Amino acid sequence: MKALVLAGGAGTRLRPFSHSMPKQLVPIAGKPVLFHALDALRATGITEAGIIVSGTDAAIRASVGDGSRFDMTVTYLPQDRPRGLAHCVMIARDFLADDDFVMYLGDNIFAEGIAGPVGAFVRDRAAAQLVVTKVMDPSQYGVAELDATGRVTALEEKPAHPRTDLAVTGLYCFTPEIHEAVGRIEPSWRNEFEITDAVRWLVDQDRPVRAELLSGYWADTGTLADLLECNRVLLEGITGAVHGTVDSRSRISGPVVIEAGTTIEGSTITGPAIIGAGCAIVDSHVGPFTSLGTRCTLTAAGVEHSILMDDASVHGVRLQKGSIIGRAGKVSQGGSGAASHRLLIGDDSRVEVPA
Ligand code: DAU
Repeated sequence: MKALVLAGGAGTRLRPFSHSMPKQLVPIAGKPVLFHALDALRATGITEAGIIVSGTDAAIRASVGDGSRFDMTVTYLPQDRPRGLAHCVMIARDFLADDDFVMYLGDNIFAEGIAGPVGAFVRDRAAAQLVVTKVMDPSQYGVAELDATGRVTALEEKPAHPRTDLAVTGLYCFTPEIHEAVGRIEPSWRNEFEITDAVRWLVDQDRPVRAELLSGYWADTGTLADLLECNRVLLEGITGAVHGTVDSRSRISGPVVIEAGTTIEGSTITGPAIIGAGCAIVDSHVGPFTSLGTRCTLTAAGVEHSILMDDASVHGVRLQKGSIIGRAGKVSQGGSGAASHRLLIGDDSRVEVPA
C-alpha cells in the first residue's frame, strides 16, 4: 500500500505564516504538521509516499528530502495550482499504479495516529473508506450519511444544510477503483475536482464505500486558533527528556523536552512544553502548553500556551494568552522612557494589546 500526501493548496487562512512557508510546514508540538502526517503513515507500515506539492514549492522538498529521515521513499508530484483533491489523485496516477493507497491531507492531525482506520481498510477492503467524526459545524466539511453497518449512503461537500453531524476528515483509503471515479466527475461550483464527488460516484454505482468513526482528537489546522489548540492537545501526550543544560537556579516541572545545545538559566519551565535545540532561556518562564523551535532566545520573559518558531525571541515581555511568533520574530520592551507601543508588523499579522 502507498500513501498520497497532499501538501499543495494556498493556506490563506494561516496568514501571515503562509506568506513565507507552505501551511504544512507550520510547526506544532515541535515539528511541522506534515512531519506528523509522515510519521503517522510510517507507523502503519507504509514506506512509499507521493507528496503533492505546489509547482513552485522548494521548502517542502528541502525539509522532507528523500524521505529517509522518516524511513520512507518520497516522490514529489507537482501540481500547477490547487485544482481539487480529486485532481491530486489524477496527477498521481502513474505513481499510484494499481496499488491500494491512503490519501492524507497534509494539514490534518490525528492525535492518536491512523493505525486503527488503516487497519480497518486492510481488513474490509471497501472500494473507498472515509474516516468521519462528529463536529459542531459540519457545514465547513464534507458530510456523510451512514447506515447502521457503517456503509456510506450519501455524501455532500460543505452543505449549507447538513443532514448529519459527521464530518469527513482528511484520511481516505482507496482501491484502484477511485481512478475511474475521478475521471467521471466535473469541477464543482468552486471550480475544483472534489474527492467528495468522486466518492459519491462510487456510492451511486453501489460500490462498497465505508466510514470509520474516529473517537480521538482530529484537527484540520486551517486557522491560527486551530494551531494553538492542536499544539495543546499534542503536548498533552509528550514524554519529558532533557538533553540541554539546566542550571541549579532553574526549575523544571511536568513533561518537558529540552533539546541538545539549549541552555536554561534562572528560569522556570512548566510542562508540557518543548524547547528546540540551541535556545537560550534566561530569567524567564516557559509553559505550560508551549513549544519553541530552534535557536529561540528569551530573557526576563514569560511565554505560555504559545508557539515560537525558529530564531524567535522575547525580551522583557510576558505573553500569557496564546501567541504564535513566526521565524525570527522579535518581541521586546522599548528602551527606557518608551511610552507607547512601537510595532513593525508584516502583511496580515495581528497584535492584541491590553485595553
Ligand atoms: O479537512 C477535511 C476536509 O478537507 C474535508 O471535510 C472535505 O470534504 C475536503 O474537501 C477537504 O476540504 P478543505 O476545503 O478543508 O480542503 P483544502 O482545500 O484545505 O485542502 C486540504 C489539503 O490538501 C491541504 O493540505 C492542501 C491540499 N491540497 C488542496 C487542494 C484543493 C492540494 O495539495 N491540492 C489541491 O488542489
